[in-house]
Amino acid sequence: MDTVINGETEVYGIFGYPVKHSKSPLFQNAAFSYLGINAVYLPFSVKPEDLKNAVEGIRALSIKGVNITVPHKEEVLKLVNEISEEVKYIGASNTIKNIDGYLIAYNTDAYGFIQGLKELVENISGKKVLVIGAGGASRAVVYGLIKEGAEKIYISNRTLKRAEDIIRDFSKLSRFTEKILEPLPLSQIEELLCNVDIIVNTTSVGLRDEDRPLFDYSKIEKRHIVVDIIYRKTPLLKAAEEKGCLWQDGLPMLLYQGARSFEIWTGKKAPINIMKKALSD
Ligand code: ATR
Repeated sequence: MDTVINGETEVYGIFGYPVKHSKSPLFQNAAFSYLGINAVYLPFSVKPEDLKNAVEGIRALSIKGVNITVPHKEEVLKLVNEISEEVKYIGASNTIKNIDGYLIAYNTDAYGFIQGLKELVENISGKKVLVIGAGGASRAVVYGLIKEGAEKIYISNRTLKRAEDIIRDFSKLSRFTEKILEPLPLSQIEELLCNVDIIVNTTSVGLRDEDRPLFDYSKIEKRHIVVDIIYRKTPLLKAAEEKGCLWQDGLPMLLYQGARSFEIWTGKKAPINIMKKALSD
C-alpha cells in the first residue's frame, strides 16, 4: 500500500552521525507501508553536541520512536526516563519508545544477533563461542549468548581490560556468568580455535580488505560457524567460505534488530519477509 502523508501521519526515525548510509529507513518504511500503518521513518543527522536537543525534540515533536546509532548509543542513556533490563547490562541503547513524552530506552541488538545466528544454528545452548571485540556491540552479542544458554564465551580483545570489564559487569546477570565468560588475548585465539563452535567478530577489523587480520584465518575449520557483524563479506568471512563453513555477515542482525524495534513501537508483528526483501533490493 502506498503511504499518504497527512495530518495523522506518525513520525519515527534514526539518530546517527553520519546517518546517510543507514539502511533502516528502507525496511522500516516498507513494513509500515505493508501493514497500512500511517507512519514514516526518517534519517536524522544528529551531531554529538546536538544529541540533547534532538532527544528533547522527540518529546516536543511527539516522534513516536527512534533508533539510535553510532556515536550516540551510550550517551543517549543519560537523556531518557527509563532504561530496560538489557540496557542496564549492555550499557547502550539502539531503540527509544516515546509514550507521551516518557522515553524508554531498549537494546534490540542482542535479540537481532541471536535471531540472525539462529538462521545458521538452531540450538545455541551448550555451544562454545569466541567473541572478538569488547565494545558496545560485543556486549550486546555476549548478553544474547548468555541468555540463550551458551556453555562458554571467550571474549578476546586487543585491550584485554575491556574484556575483563564486560565480565565484571555481567557477573550480576546470573551466578553462572563468571564460569561461562573468560577473557582471552588476541594472541591466544589460534590455540583456542579447536575448543569453540562459533566465532563472532564485533570489531571494526575487516571494514577494509587491507586491515591487519585479527588472527591467522587459515586456521579456521570447516565445522566452525563464523559471523561478522560488519555489513560486507570481510576477509574473515571469505576465509570461512573457502573452508566450507556456515557463515553470515551483519545484515541478518540489522534486519532482526529493526524488526524488534518495530514491534516495540507498534505492538504489531514485524513483516520480516517484506523487511528482508526491502533490505536485499
Ligand atoms: P562498538 O560499540 O561498535 O562495539 P567500539 O566500542 O569502538 O565500537 O569497539 C570497537 C572494537 O573494535 C573494540 O573491541 C576495539 O578494540 P580495543 O578495545 O582494543 O580498542 C576493536 N578494534 C578496533 N580496531 C582494531 C584493530 N585494528 N585491531 C584489533 N581490534 C580493533
